Amino acid sequence: MQPADFDVLREQAAASGRQAYAPYSGLHVGAALRSASGHVYCGCNVENGALPMNSCAERGAIAAAVLAEGPTFRLSAIAVVATTADGSVQAVSPCGACRQLIAESGPEASIGFFGANEQWVVVSAAELLPYAFVLPRG
Ligand code: THU
Repeated sequence: MQPADFDVLREQAAASGRQAYAPYSGLHVGAALRSASGHVYCGCNVENGALPMNSCAERGAIAAAVLAEGPTFRLSAIAVVATTADGSVQAVSPCGACRQLIAESGPEASIGFFGANEQWVVVSAAELLPYAFVLPRG
């Protein structure tokens, strides 16, 4: 996917981030994905006082997609947008746990996020998580 193909997903991710419950970190994260079947699903981060137990935007969006499409869901593209409470864009790429689920959900997926200087970055799942863990099955 080209950076321009992310326009809708990036807008949806930004809108999702405005729904975030992030009173502890102050980082409002939204994610919007397109499934292989062409539908869009969104998520935002949801925090709680047991700080390591936070729930990430990307995994929220993937959970929504699996709920809607079932176990055959495949990820085609996902956009991530993070801001502070005042709306200023932060350079945030998916965390390690989200990278693992993204790689499993869409080995051919494209991932977009803001890097340094508010530059929109698009990478492949393999670039995002090289040498991804795959559970060996006997
Ligand atoms: N967060 C996400 O939603 N996605 C990521 O990939 C990185 C981190 C959230 C979790 C937590 O609510 C806040 O950002 C700070 O870590």
